[in-house]
Amino acid sequence: MTRGQSRALEAWASDWVIPETAQGPVDWTSRFSRRAPLGVEIGFGMGQALLTWAETDPGMNLVGIDVYRPGIGALLAGRAERDIAHLLVVEGDARVVLDRLFATGSIREARIFFPDPWPKKRHHKRRLVNAAFVRLLSDRLEPGGRLRLATDWEDYAVWMLGVLEAEGTLSNESGTGYAGRFAGRDITRFEARGQRLGHGVWDLSYIKQG
Ligand SMILES: C[S@@+](CC[C@H](N)C(=O)[O-])C[C@H]1O[C@@H](n2cnc3c(N)ncnc32)[C@H](O)[C@@H]1O
Repeated sequence: MTRGQSRALEAWASDWVIPETAQGPVDWTSRFSRRAPLGVEIGFGMGQALLTWAETDPGMNLVGIDVYRPGIGALLAGRAERDIAHLLVVEGDARVVLDRLFATGSIREARIFFPDPWPKKRHHKRRLVNAAFVRLLSDRLEPGGRLRLATDWEDYAVWMLGVLEAEGTLSNESGTGYAGRFAGRDITRFEARGQRLGHGVWDLSYIKQG
């Protein structure tokens, strides 16, 4: 962890970071001191895409979920630098956090970019995007809410497509295939690494049925 990240954690974690053990479900309207549509990024890494989202959608209340402390520090530093007030963090495992801290139908948009960087077959059972997690995510989305994902592993893209197509409460915005990169999706650190290695990118976008 850099000194800047650790200073940011010291200065702001108590105000802007909620532990996964907090009392749930959280009343997000009162936590943000305003009523606004809720957006969630799961596994934000160093936070570039989430900070850009906060800048491009000032009318949303945004929550980043991750377990990676240096990344949380980097996000808090970026939040302070850019003077963003409508962004909070939950530190914890997204599976527990979504289950405990978010009510059914409470999220307008959820994003997961470049999860699980393990291409080996023996790691596949650990994948975050699986049937149970997609069911939970879909339950937490508002009717008409959106789930966006991206990966730079083709076999993970095929796997995600299969899992998402099998979830009856979600419909693919691009027929039965992949979406392109949407306007406003920043290149993340992990994606840039994939580009240097010559990886492709696969985006997916689903809408929660009413
Ligand atoms: C490969 S990195 C990608 C980070 C970022 N989205 C990017 O594109 O640069 C995956 C991120 O997901 C986080 N992560 C993995 N499993 C998680 C889980 N179960 N709950 C919350 N965060 C998780 C990791 O800590 C890491 O920050």
